Amino acid sequence: TQTPTPFTVIPNRRPATDEERWIAMEDPVFGKVFTDHMARATWRDGHGWADRRIVPLAPLPLHPGAAVLHYAQQAFEGLKAYRHEDGSVWLFRPEANAARLAASCRRMALPEVSEEDFLAALEALIAADHAWVPGTPGSSLYLRPLVIATEASLLVQPAAEVDFIVTASPVGAYMAAPGGVSIWVSRGYHRANAGGTGDTKTAGNYAASMLPQAEAKAHGCQQVLFLDAREDTYVEELGGMNLVAVRADGSILTPRLTGTILPGVTRDSILTLLRDEGRAVEERDIALTELVEGIESGEILELFACGTAAVVTPIARLVSDDLDVTVRGAGEGGSVADAVLARLTDLQYGRGEDAHGWMRRV
Ligand code: COI
Repeated sequence: TQTPTPFTVIPNRRPATDEERWIAMEDPVFGKVFTDHMARATWRDGHGWADRRIVPLAPLPLHPGAAVLHYAQQAFEGLKAYRHEDGSVWLFRPEANAARLAASCRRMALPEVSEEDFLAALEALIAADHAWVPGTPGSSLYLRPLVIATEASLLVQPAAEVDFIVTASPVGAYMAAPGGVSIWVSRGYHRANAGGTGDTKTAGNYAASMLPQAEAKAHGCQQVLFLDAREDTYVEELGGMNLVAVRADGSILTPRLTGTILPGVTRDSILTLLRDEGRAVEERDIALTELVEGIESGEILELFACGTAAVVTPIARLVSDDLDVTVRGAGEGGSVADAVLARLTDLQYGRGEDAHGWMRRV
């Protein structure tokens, strides 16, 4: 195995003052506050990855012909660093994000970032910006690794110049959800189709979700839910998070990974924790009609969204042109969503046993 080349640190000579940082970190809007530094490495065809560096956060000098701006040749990730009570800082399953980024890069014809480089970039960035890792409950440092095609070329072909960048943002909750969020089921739009990029973490999926997401907002909903494109029947995922249902008998139901759904790290972690509790977890196609009938009959007691940003967010209502159902168990004390959220966050914040070896100290 190759030893990672260390990331050279060029410190920010004008970092935020303690006071500026405290103000910026107090209840930040998700992803609107950035730390003093970013990690960066550059790839050139025939030369591989080079110039691994931590540099002051700054706008990128990008040619207006850069392929990423025209053809969205890019891939990204999202993961969090958590501060434990003793002050130490930990990442949650970063190897899983490294593997998914590599898979996304393969699909987008981008050079892969090795797990070694991925972890070294995160560790060097967190070392430079450790003061930005929040210590308040429910807060964390959200890390956004990004691979972009920087080559100025309008040819539709894999770029010969690519950058790997990691930024960091102190964050709290992604969605405010007292009592659970309302979800708009999109009828006119689909997120992904077989052979496309639905299971890839890449910009286009999110760009395409914005209009249906705006439609959701216009109907008083916080998130959009997509049905499969082939049969327009089965629930797939939300605009940027996975969907889980809890039955009255305590068993769990969630859409299977069909290739058109993003394989969420939080999804996988939660399903694992629920299986650890001895619950039956079924991953299969779920028709919207089955979901709605289950909610109406009381067979399905809870629905929740899960993701790195959303963590576990209870869903209170499903709404569409011809549909408006209220989920009974949402936001209630003793819900499975609350319990699994507590188990997951206890682990992430160092209060629970790390039975699966998911935490990595940085
Ligand atoms: C994440 O959960 O990390 C995402 O990338 C989803 C996005 C809605 C913020």
